[in-house]
Amino acid sequence: MLVYTIAEVRQKVREWKKAGLTIGLVPTMGALHDGHKSLITKSVSKCDKTIVSVFVNPIQFCAGEDLDKYPRTLNADNELCEQNGVDIVFAPSAKEMYGDDYTISHDYLTYVIPPSSYVNKLCGKSRIGHFDGVCTVVNKLFNIAEPDYAFFGEKDRQQLIVLQKMVKDLNIPLQIIPCPTVREESGLALSSRNKYLSAEDKENALALSKILFHIKDCYNNGVTDIKSLSAVADIYLNESHALEYLDFRDSDDLTEKQVADNKTIVFIALKIGDVRLIDNLALKD
Ligand code: PAF
Repeated sequence: MLVYTIAEVRQKVREWKKAGLTIGLVPTMGALHDGHKSLITKSVSKCDKTIVSVFVNPIQFCAGEDLDKYPRTLNADNELCEQNGVDIVFAPSAKEMYGDDYTISHDYLTYVIPPSSYVNKLCGKSRIGHFDGVCTVVNKLFNIAEPDYAFFGEKDRQQLIVLQKMVKDLNIPLQIIPCPTVREESGLALSSRNKYLSAEDKENALALSKILFHIKDCYNNGVTDIKSLSAVADIYLNESHALEYLDFRDSDDLTEKQVADNKTIVFIALKIGDVRLIDNLALKD
């Protein structure tokens, strides 16, 4: 069932809670792919009822980012949800979420500001205010859908870690379920932004996963020195790539690793033309 208003979601949630049913929430910005499908499948198998939100959240986009051209495919998204057992697809307008007088301004609408030590690095370094916008909208979605479980992909690992901290620190009564990154056979992590890539870009985009998996191989063969592990990137980067970061961080609190260990996540972000791509890999699993 496709619904556009907060009131309709609340009404259903009230009925479900009264009947003692568990609710799973899969927050998305739409343009659903197999990565999202894996979150949906997990929610549908774990919870009595599943809500998928489809909302391109304006306040998490920074100036100059792709808000206007972000892919919007609501009909196809709704179809995928229907075919996979979703009970409600919640697709609000920005006005429904933020009120008639909303403007795209971080100052105006961000109520949930995560600790700077979690967001002044990796994606947060170049995307100032991005995680304030994410935490604010996810909080709103939690208040609307009152889920018992919320499903987030490890592909956006910094987002996942920030949201896990938010849920813990603000005592939000739900459990976040992290879901593994889904990859094409080539290794490329699925992302809605892959739609922007030409065939040649897509070939070049393989550098991200190749670097990560090669670093993991080196680690498994006993290399723990960050400088040596970082040098792997030189094998795969060419003039088509603008590397933003290749960072080794702790899986709990994102502090920088001096030496790689089993709690290390390797994070990478690079641009191919205008398209910014991210990926990450845990060295342990
Ligand atoms: O990961 C996303 O798609 C978005 O950041 C989220 C969590 C749906 C919030 O808008």
